Amino acid sequence: MSRGLKILFTASEAVPFAKTGGLADVAGALPKALSGLGHEVKVVMPRYYSINRSKLEHVPGALGVPMGPMGTLWAGLYKTVLPGSHVEVYFVDYEAFFGRSGLYADDNGFSYEDNDIRFIFLSKAAFELARKLDFTPDIIHSNDWHTALQPALQKTRYAFDERFKNAATILTIHNLQHQGQFFKGAVDVAEIGWEHFNPHEFEAMDGLNLLKGGIANADAVTTVSRKYVAEIQRPEFGFGLDGHIRAHSARLFGILNGVDYSEWNPFTDPHIVANYDIGDLSGKALCKRDLQECFGLPQRDDIPLVGFVGRFAEQKGIGLIAGAIEGLAHLDAQFVMLGTGEKWAEGFFGDVARRYPDRFGCHVGYSEELAHKIEAGCDLFLMPSLFEPCGLNQIYSLRYGTLPIVRATGGLDDTISNYDPATAEGNGFKFYDATHEALYRTVKWACDTYRYERDAYTTMQKRAMEAEFDWRYSAMAYEDIYLWAYYTKRSARHR
Ligand code: ADP
Ligand code: GLC
Repeated sequence: MSRGLKILFTASEAVPFAKTGGLADVAGALPKALSGLGHEVKVVMPRYYSINRSKLEHVPGALGVPMGPMGTLWAGLYKTVLPGSHVEVYFVDYEAFFGRSGLYADDNGFSYEDNDIRFIFLSKAAFELARKLDFTPDIIHSNDWHTALQPALQKTRYAFDERFKNAATILTIHNLQHQGQFFKGAVDVAEIGWEHFNPHEFEAMDGLNLLKGGIANADAVTTVSRKYVAEIQRPEFGFGLDGHIRAHSARLFGILNGVDYSEWNPFTDPHIVANYDIGDLSGKALCKRDLQECFGLPQRDDIPLVGFVGRFAEQKGIGLIAGAIEGLAHLDAQFVMLGTGEKWAEGFFGDVARRYPDRFGCHVGYSEELAHKIEAGCDLFLMPSLFEPCGLNQIYSLRYGTLPIVRATGGLDDTISNYDPATAEGNGFKFYDATHEALYRTVKWACDTYRYERDAYTTMQKRAMEAEFDWRYSAMAYEDIYLWAYYTKRSARHR
């Protein structure tokens, strides 16, 4: 195709506007990288309460979104660009759905009861926006369950519209655990037609499963690492959809996420006390002392400092860390943790920090600044996930010269290679069994390597810092899938 593709990219969160996890990092970076390859991307997301309207440009005129029995709901529209790019981001402003403190759940962690309606609304709003802007997409790219309705919408509710006829639909699964399962009544609001409420599309245990229907209807399905492509076809990782995914595996591809190095780079990072790079790591030692001070830990240069940043969710292996805690507390090592989520974990790790003030620091909350300080100030980064579609922090850690300790699953397995003491190869430390004993032994091994095998540790550190996970490479892989889906769909129409 000689011209660039026109891509309509919808996500429920995007950096720097709203973020609960890695999806936001992806939605804030991939469109920029695609634009860098010559494509025209328009990003669509909600205008949440936390997004200040005064910093956005108001788009005149209201956006009518048809919602079946609810009638047409009229939304406001705002826009801006992704920082450092010309990529337009459109914010769908509908106070009753998005004017709340949380993105998906209230302050106590309970999911909003009308999440089905809220995200059906977002999914349709993107189509209505394209019509309003006179934008004819070649690609409709949806992300996770929130917008997984879009491939079916193109074939049903919007099938009459010539504008969408040639578009190929791509659905990216960032996390199969969250599928968007709701009461089936929402099919009326979705307006896809009850004939699509069947066990091969949207029906699961007599309820509506948005992700399942999205997988069935998308022209191509992608997920965020190759290992995860294989894993989700097995019952242990399939969350009930492994059979469904196997049935659609011919259209399933794995593309690893990239890193936005304008955001995650120790040489330019504005959040850390001293910048550094591979040629001079002296700044990293200052970052370590600063981090120890932030968490009230003794400022020792010789002690291995291990960090954790992430949602306190079972997925992230917090149960394994909790199980290993007494052993970890008796290593000559320090640990700093940053996260929020499960209440038991917030209480447990806060308590551990009070019991072992010289060993553990824990900050319950969300802090962009502290996340950067942990990447820079630690010697090792712990990510013992039970499953991990891609994982971003271990890749950020590499650039900061902070060697990851990971469980060999999903993107963690694809990005981290195990230290081999015989050859000093590798860029981190891996364990396989999802047990707290395996976690403990691997953390101990990593700490011993840091302390007693300095040459091997620094060789790996340099190797880690040199690795490139530029979004450009990932964007090129998406481009291949877009083109494959686009042409495959066109030729199928003439068969
Ligand atoms: P997931 O999307 O499953 O949560 P990822 O590793 O893909 O996991 O991405 C998590 C992102 O969210 C990273 O950018 C990480 O730094 C950030 N993050 C998670 N928890 C926090 C927190 N408590 N404070 C700041 N950033 C956080
Ligand atoms: C999900 C996954 C995480 C991935 C992120 C971005 O939230 O849990 O592994 O990195 O999405 O794709």
